[in-house]
Amino acid sequence: MDDALRQAVTLLNNATRVVVLTGAGVSKESGIPTFRDAQTGLWARYDPTQLATPEAFRRDPKLVWDFYEFRREVMRPAQPNPAHVALAQLERRVPQFTLITQNVDDLHERAGSIHIIRLHGQIHRNKCFNACQGEPTYIDVAALARDRAAGPPTCPHCGAFVRPDIVWFGEGLPAQALSAAQSASAAAEVMLIVGTSGMVTPAADLPYIARQSGAALIEFNPLPSAITPIVNLHFAEAAGVALPRLITALEERRGE
Ligand code: APR
Repeated sequence: MDDALRQAVTLLNNATRVVVLTGAGVSKESGIPTFRDAQTGLWARYDPTQLATPEAFRRDPKLVWDFYEFRREVMRPAQPNPAHVALAQLERRVPQFTLITQNVDDLHERAGSIHIIRLHGQIHRNKCFNACQGEPTYIDVAALARDRAAGPPTCPHCGAFVRPDIVWFGEGLPAQALSAAQSASAAAEVMLIVGTSGMVTPAADLPYIARQSGAALIEFNPLPSAITPIVNLHFAEAAGVALPRLITALEERRGE
């Protein structure tokens, strides 16, 4: 066991409160392109940041809806990878564990993670654009009789268009989720940062909150990120390799 791994095992074995922050990199090995990966085919000519806004949806609801239907189709075959599974295993070993994700796929749930805080929404969920029954007014689109070629369905309560449950550029994060993520980060003894470039706030502020509260930061990313300068340990490799190795090392230490 190399020294960095030994340090990570000791930090985690001595910790009661562990927080994990994940980004698109944790789903990369499941074949899900990160948001910034070039869009393929029909969508190659669009800049995704120009589609993921409420203004774009108001201007052309069908275009934006079809963009998310495309992304949902791309994500559908994806399976949780060993990184997702390792994080679910870690949760079962830690007394107080919180997984905070910027990702909008459902792979953490499907891998068995339970205490999940979603900062940017969930792409397979939909809601009323007007939040007519309160924010969020989830709508089960599968239950609506509709012409799939006609663009977004309409809310059965108020008739407004239905939109994906995604935080769009220019929108605030769900206040309760952000507050819970900030509190968990401030209370953490160890924070794992997995697969995020650390470029988008307020998610990218969470490692700073954890560090200011005395937490040790451990990063899993093949490349340096904006967070790397403040971490205690950086495993510069794919999360799907490094996280399972960490779980194995924790088991070995337990067995000693
Ligand atoms: N294991 C770990 N990290 C990886 C892997 C891997 N196998 N492959 C890539 N990475 C890293 C990249 O090096 C990069 O630092 O994952 C990071 C992905 O960065 P981004 O694509 O910027 O994704 P993310 O940080 O989640 O973006 C934050 O911005 O795109 C918007 O709202 C969207 O939630 C997203 C937010």
